[in-house]
Amino acid sequence: MTIFSLTEDELRQRQSLKWRTYDPDVLPLWVAEMDTAVIPAVRRALEEALDNGDTGYPHGTGYADAYRATASSRWGLELASDQVRRGGDVMNAVLCVLEAVTNPGEGVVITAPVYRPFWQVTGGYRRRTVPVPLSPAGRLDLDALAEAFAADDVTAFLLCSPHNPTGTVHTAEELAAVAELCDANGVRLIVDEIHAWLVDPGTTFVPTLSVPAAQRAVVVVSAGKAWNLAAFKAGLYVAGRDAVDVLDALPPLAGQSTGHLGSIAHTAALRHGQEWVDQVCVEVAANKQLLSDLLHNLVPGARYTPQPGTYLAWVDCTELGLALPVRHFLETGRVAFSPGRDFSPAHAQFVRINLAASPALITRAVERMASSLRRQAA
Ligand SMILES: Cc1ncc(COP(=O)(O)O)c(C=O)c1O
Repeated sequence: MTIFSLTEDELRQRQSLKWRTYDPDVLPLWVAEMDTAVIPAVRRALEEALDNGDTGYPHGTGYADAYRATASSRWGLELASDQVRRGGDVMNAVLCVLEAVTNPGEGVVITAPVYRPFWQVTGGYRRRTVPVPLSPAGRLDLDALAEAFAADDVTAFLLCSPHNPTGTVHTAEELAAVAELCDANGVRLIVDEIHAWLVDPGTTFVPTLSVPAAQRAVVVVSAGKAWNLAAFKAGLYVAGRDAVDVLDALPPLAGQSTGHLGSIAHTAALRHGQEWVDQVCVEVAANKQLLSDLLHNLVPGARYTPQPGTYLAWVDCTELGLALPVRHFLETGRVAFSPGRDFSPAHAQFVRINLAASPALITRAVERMASSLRRQAA
């Protein structure tokens, strides 16, 4: 079974953001949608619901129970039923946790560069965004975090694990150190683990709540990214053993944006899609190596060091000497990547490349990068 095998013609039938934002001659390797067919178990579950006219409101703890089962079997993380609760989609869940644990005007630390909605869910909702740069190797900078946490008005740290866009997979030691720093400074640790399943073979994802020191953390998670189910909005809150009170303090409607079909789709993915996502990870790891080799040979000024997390590649184009790489590649190369500056103002020379695509498409994208640079030089 090869998962990333759909042709460009097939993919161009889609009406989603990735495939419809740009002109039809542009190759889209930007927003985090995967070029996969719907996983059969999810299709079956949705078809059954539709056959039954089962299109009402979600009920019960099926999604939460499925997550608890995968956390146990995949990561050895045992969660009690009162630790997991239905949320909205992940960013709405983050918003609700921030509403519960911080006050307007307070500072929320994020690690830059980071997924753009992290800036929006803080600064756009009356919190002060406190960006702390990752180290040049993409790791958490514990000294810089300690300094940021020491500010009186900083009350939360919103962490992405694994990290979007760098693909960093945080270690148990790093997570423990961060959790201890948070506790010492009265800062609530909130962790977005939507990319949890997406790590290269041989790499172990460390769930925050498997770290004994992190039991005051609140995790938000969903099957949306690993099984390409963004169309079916759903998500979960997962509280550490000493953070269950946060779930009771969530604002009204905190679970409202999960739809019943979303819940059904995500539950089926978690229950029946573990082998499927393992295969995704195998193909993504090969795509990372492919991108690295292609860039090395065709666009040597673009710096890319594969990282084990996510299906995203964070590529430094500084040496190419372009005013704005993402614009150059779009306008001259007809290939769309995510702009680095969306992830931090200091990273305009970076592009994020979505590798949840076929090797053929990735190859064509890099060939377009190379030919656009030749045209620029001519
Ligand atoms: C880190 C991270 N969190 C959240 C999301 C979006 O999740 P949702 O659609 O459930 O809000 C994404 C999507 O790419 C993401 O990368």
